[in-house]
Amino acid sequence: MLRLFVGIALPEEARAVLAALAGGLPGARWVAPENMHLTLRFVGEVDDDLAEDLDAALAGVPGAPFDLTLNGLGAFESRNRVRAVWVAAEAGPELPALQARVESAAVRAGFAPESRKFMPHVTVARLKNAPSGKVTPYLERNGGFRSGPFTVTDFQLFRSHLGKAGPRYEVLADYPLSSRNG
Ligand code: 2AM
Repeated sequence: MLRLFVGIALPEEARAVLAALAGGLPGARWVAPENMHLTLRFVGEVDDDLAEDLDAALAGVPGAPFDLTLNGLGAFESRNRVRAVWVAAEAGPELPALQARVESAAVRAGFAPESRKFMPHVTVARLKNAPSGKVTPYLERNGGFRSGPFTVTDFQLFRSHLGKAGPRYEVLADYPLSSRNG
């Protein structure tokens, strides 16, 4: 079985500026710069055949390069605990259009539709047992974070290898955004 997701690998320049956000948040597990990405569709565990169907569907997704700006920080909470700290990603209509096409490709390949609303972000830290009050000072200190624009020229199918030292993401396929009708 393969644990997969579809996303955008950030350019080196973007990862370098995001790496500077690490620190000053007790209990945070910081995302390694080489792992930083914007998730377009979490897929989960699949067998080889389904992975091939997904790859074929993604290869047919049209699109054109677009600019992405990182602007501001936020946090995902559940059950009154902060689970992740992220940087918001802003782009033109190309980004939600790409996400919608990736979503359709996943559904065509046989996956259940994603019901959660797309919220473009790059996770920079994960936390286990942090009440929101512990994270607020960090968010306030870094809330003015802004970087880019960065040009997105392709998106990727990633395989996630879970390990004791944290996940490692492997790019299984790269899909260029090069068509004129994107
Ligand atoms: P994130 O995008 O908020 O960081 C690989 O695990 C990527 O898929 C992560 O970046 C993760 O969250 C995203 N993802 C979305 N739903 C997930 C889920 N149910 N389990 C694990 N990761 C998920």
